[in-house]
Amino acid sequence: MKTIEQLATQCRDALKAKPGSGGRKDVCAILAETLRDAEFVDAYLVDSNPDRIVLHEDSELGFCICAHHFRGAKVRQPHGHGPTWAIYGQGRGETIMSDFELVEAPSAGKRGKARRLDTYTLTPGTAHLYDIGKLHGLRRERSAHLIRIEGMNLHNISREDYEEV
Ligand SMILES: [Fe+2]
Repeated sequence: MKTIEQLATQCRDALKAKPGSGGRKDVCAILAETLRDAEFVDAYLVDSNPDRIVLHEDSELGFCICAHHFRGAKVRQPHGHGPTWAIYGQGRGETIMSDFELVEAPSAGKRGKARRLDTYTLTPGTAHLYDIGKLHGLRRERSAHLIRIEGMNLHNISREDYEEV
């Protein structure tokens, strides 16, 4: 079974080998493959997990590997992650993701506006990269487990929220 430390090493190596989008795409493929390992999923994506737990914060590159146990149905409006990227990897359940394009940027205390492009479903063993500036929103019908890899710890970054137009 792959451990979180081994996954972190693979991510670090990929990001160093190809700085920028190329390395992030490789990390996305590595994460999807990892989530097809039933033992990994059983070990790390357990129902006692909280909403978000940081499994690894990389001391060299700053990326974070987080496990999420999202409970119940939810709709999350379009948003961006400011200066960084995020990879959503599905472990259990499904997430219906949408890509959005910017219509109006947020300004002082006011949400921005965004228009929906594609909608697709993340199923167990699949992952998707939201590169820097890529707006996305999501919906789920029931509880789900994900591994998200953040370019830097999103706990320290305020999310940019948009309304759909
Ligand atoms: Fe997000």
